[in-house]
Amino acid sequence: MSEGLSRRSLLRGGAITAGAGVVGYVVAASSDATGTKPATAAANGYGSDEGTGTRLAALRDIPAGGGLIVAEAKVVLTRGESDEVGAFSATCTHQGCTVASIEDGLIVCPCHLSRFDLATGAPVAGPAGRPLPPVAVAVRGDDVYTS
Ligand code: FES
Repeated sequence: MSEGLSRRSLLRGGAITAGAGVVGYVVAASSDATGTKPATAAANGYGSDEGTGTRLAALRDIPAGGGLIVAEAKVVLTRGESDEVGAFSATCTHQGCTVASIEDGLIVCPCHLSRFDLATGAPVAGPAGRPLPPVAVAVRGDDVYTS
């Protein structure tokens, strides 16, 4: 009798061990326990894992010698005559309104009509006394990203 119990216990123990092995394999196969799983294009939506940042605009949307206000990102993108792109915060340094237009080479705040130089962000008219802070951006391919 004790031999039967012992054999039954042995069989039950073997079944439990085999089941645990299968569960462990399934868990390991469905996760990346090493953390070395490569990023995929679908992970960031931009087709590449080079660099990071948020896409702000297409380069072609920034007029040469002009600028583009990306209000949702609170960034003013500027472009010289080449493809070199600069950027400033779109938050006015006077009282924090978002600048709203670019006129005659100047970035204009609608609240109290401060105007900032498009190339340097320096205030040139109105009550703002400090320049628009620069923002780091990067051109990758045909698009401009925060960097
Ligand atoms: S907040 Fe921009 S000029 Fe006053």
